[in-house]
Amino acid sequence: MNILVNAIDALEEFNAKRTYQEIRDNPCRITIRTSVVNSQWVKIALAKPAEGIADNGSGIPESIQKQIFNPFFTTKPVGKGTGMGMAISYQIITEKHHGKLEFFSTPGEGTEFVVQIPIQQVSKVV
Ligand SMILES: Nc1ncnc2c1ncn2[C@@H]1O[C@H](COP(=O)(O)OP(=O)(O)OP(=O)(O)O)[C@@H](O)[C@H]1O
Ligand SMILES: [Mg+2]
Repeated sequence: MNILVNAIDALEEFNAKRTYQEIRDNPCRITIRTSVVNSQWVKIALAKPAEGIADNGSGIPESIQKQIFNPFFTTKPVGKGTGMGMAISYQIITEKHHGKLEFFSTPGEGTEFVVQIPIQQVSKVV
């Protein structure tokens, strides 16, 4: 949800700077792609890359890309963002699900977040 809401925010912000004509010619889009990598014979195949969640908004400027997973980092106006969405998502995906969260962003073209979650969790023997 945090990743989706960020994508919607990015598109709204992008549209606010565009004319009706520009929006109509090149509409905003959020793409969600899921796939299972299942080579059937190795354990390593038991990984599920990806909810690739991509938007065609303004992208994330390179100067702030290193900071977006930091708690309380936000570029949104006071009262809109707390800056916790990505920090919480990162924690849930990596610590709770032993997965990976990464993103690829080209300023001016958009952003893709990739969530990878192992299908089988390793259970701990206590
Ligand atoms: N899809 C995206 N496109 C552009 N910038 C993004 C995108 N996703 C995240 N960001 C940048 O990363 C920053 C941190 O995101 P994060 O979700 O942690 O906080 P937030 O959205 O500002 O506030 P909230 O706590 O309400 O989620 C955002 O303020 C924004 O600058
Ligand atoms: Mg957010």
